[in-house]
Amino acid sequence: MELVADRVWPVVSLIEWREADRQFHLANGRLSYVLAIHDNGALGPLHVGGPLATGRSYRHLIPRPFAGFSNRLGDAVALDCPTPGSGDYRVPGLVVEQPDGSTVLELAYRGHRIVAGKPPIAGLPATYAETDDEAGTLEVDLADARSGLVVTLSYTIFRDIAAIARSAGIRNDGSEPLRLTTAMSLVLDLPGADWDLVHLGGSWARENHVRTRRLELGRQSISSSRGSSSHVHNPFVALRRTSTTEEHGEAIGVALVYSGNFLAEVEVESFGSARLRIGIDPETFAWDLPPGAGFATPEAVVVHTTDGLGAMSDAFHRLFRERLARGVWRDRPRPILVNNWEGTYFDFDEERLVAIATVARDLGIELFVLDDGWFGKRDDDTTSLGDWFVDRRKLPGGIDGLARRITELGLAFGIWIEPEMVSERSELFAAHPDWAIGIPGRPRTEGRQQLVLDMSRPEVVDYLERVLADVLGSGPISYVKWDMNRWITEPWSATLPADRQGEFFHRSILGVYELYRRLTTRFPDILFESCAGGGGRFDAGMLAFAPQAWTSDDTDAVERLKIQWGTSLAYPLSSMGAHVSAVPNHQVGRITPLATRAAVAFFGVFGYELDTTALTDAERAEIRDQVAFYREHRDVLQYGRFVRLRGPFEGDGNTTAWMAVAEDRSRAVVGFYRVLNRPAPAPDRIRLRDLDRERDYRVTVWPVADDTIGRANARVRRGDDLETVGLLIDVDRHEAAGQGDFWSRLFVLEAV
Ligand code: DGJ
Repeated sequence: MELVADRVWPVVSLIEWREADRQFHLANGRLSYVLAIHDNGALGPLHVGGPLATGRSYRHLIPRPFAGFSNRLGDAVALDCPTPGSGDYRVPGLVVEQPDGSTVLELAYRGHRIVAGKPPIAGLPATYAETDDEAGTLEVDLADARSGLVVTLSYTIFRDIAAIARSAGIRNDGSEPLRLTTAMSLVLDLPGADWDLVHLGGSWARENHVRTRRLELGRQSISSSRGSSSHVHNPFVALRRTSTTEEHGEAIGVALVYSGNFLAEVEVESFGSARLRIGIDPETFAWDLPPGAGFATPEAVVVHTTDGLGAMSDAFHRLFRERLARGVWRDRPRPILVNNWEGTYFDFDEERLVAIATVARDLGIELFVLDDGWFGKRDDDTTSLGDWFVDRRKLPGGIDGLARRITELGLAFGIWIEPEMVSERSELFAAHPDWAIGIPGRPRTEGRQQLVLDMSRPEVVDYLERVLADVLGSGPISYVKWDMNRWITEPWSATLPADRQGEFFHRSILGVYELYRRLTTRFPDILFESCAGGGGRFDAGMLAFAPQAWTSDDTDAVERLKIQWGTSLAYPLSSMGAHVSAVPNHQVGRITPLATRAAVAFFGVFGYELDTTALTDAERAEIRDQVAFYREHRDVLQYGRFVRLRGPFEGDGNTTAWMAVAEDRSRAVVGFYRVLNRPAPAPDRIRLRDLDRERDYRVTVWPVADDTIGRANARVRRGDDLETVGLLIDVDRHEAAGQGDFWSRLFVLEAV
């Protein structure tokens, strides 16, 4: 699908208000979101889906009343801000406790504004428009007369992307205190439930596996209450028709721009409609709204397509890469790095690091990253988090001394930090034991032998800004890996009164965002990569501060096929850190060929995670070629369109293929992976996509071209031939016998 609209829609036509019909229509030629103000003043959707013509009324699309219960909501059965207790028994989008303990509201339209561009959300990460003509925003005010509550629902439609961003501002204009206990970012009422729910789940080292289940009567949800989005569930879900494939069919994707506790849920009610809601996890949330106070929900992004999951991902990739990520590194080629973690763990000194960097430099690697263990007395993971001063036993010249030696070699220098944590054995804990999250009189649960700092406390954020700014300013540092290795337990803050402890989790993540904002503002030239024991906080909220994230601690090439495939449903290649590590692999003990490890890691932000000094001469030669290959095709592999061709979750999962295509379709790199070898393999074909069907492409095979695959494919072929027939995976059975398991091939296509 072509994402750039073939004609530019002026903002005025992105959002239409039809006074006579009391109808809003957000339309960009790719999707339509039609909303009506109902007779009782409630706001609800008439259509969320494929593009419809503007200039027309769609009030005939009001769905019939549900649940056989006549109620005061009249016909307003699809709602954008549903509240409980007045006849709508589905999951609510907003629950507000009033002084008398009741939660019933009568939210009715009070006014609206249509503005060019996209206003920011104070204190929260969000997508943005760079110019006023790339997006339009509709803000609708709904008010409850009795309580004084005002809800402003905000909808931004992007001109060139099939996406709408939604958030809500909630204000207490009354004279009595109110209390929010549910404040969803988005509620989507859909007229039917004929969908499969797709979500990304797993665990540490097994993140973002694609899960698909049929929607059923009742509620189905994913969530996190761990203090961050987590390895277990990602704040992204999609609905797809059962017949939808990567290439064809309808899909709605929803992602939350948030890194804290979340809930994504779909309820199917007995008359067959589906309500999707996503936002802050209500189970671990409450927020006081005294008179005059306001609250902003995080933003949710909705993508709709009729061109398959591939087009859905394409829209997310483009939005997240170009209008969520920000700063100088948003569009810059990201450096090829070597990280010492799996190479040395905590056992290093300056000379060992310089030796690793020296070999890396000779291989063409561009950035050396010093991982955990450089500070305090951190010889293992029992100590020193929080003591962000250099361990001179290991680094006698300090960070500055090491950084200078590395940069003199011609490499950039980067450093690991884990700001939100403290070890019980640390000077910071000794000085401020109350800064660690915990409930007085109860034991603190430890995870990885460390505690979490109370980021809801401004003085903690101030302190961390000060000490980390000292570190980052102490030498030529151009990259930071910001890690976060455990969940929050015993949630409670000494600075919040008893009746406001429900604010703790959200305030914590706001503190994390504030620290990110301050450090990225003070050090605008530093490339930040987020990390949470791998992909434990790989979400759109983090991408607004750190344009790339460490996708998983699992660097095994076979495991990574699943992890990177799943992650790509929502997140672009430029956001996915992907490294080659040593074998036997440290997470699964598997021995895969070096070529395959690179062929998988090429599809992301590439690097190495090993001790370069331990490489054989043959491995060094191979890595030199890999680095040269990635440099040559980096623009496509980081910023090209990613196209999933055959997946590890499909069929027997034994073969995977994907490709990255230049925006102008002049070049593409295709990766083909076979997990287990099979004797006398049948011929196979991989149909490509998103090429220019009328252009000729020269196909080259990498790294080996003098075998049957090379002979079959290394030639000039037209785009239609490559899309309709495909690459020929026809392995000679004698060659196959020598190939073994975990085999891969790369194909480079260049338009001639
Ligand atoms: C978890 C990260 O994901 C690893 O890459 C590494 O940085 C370790 N933490 C260090 O403690």
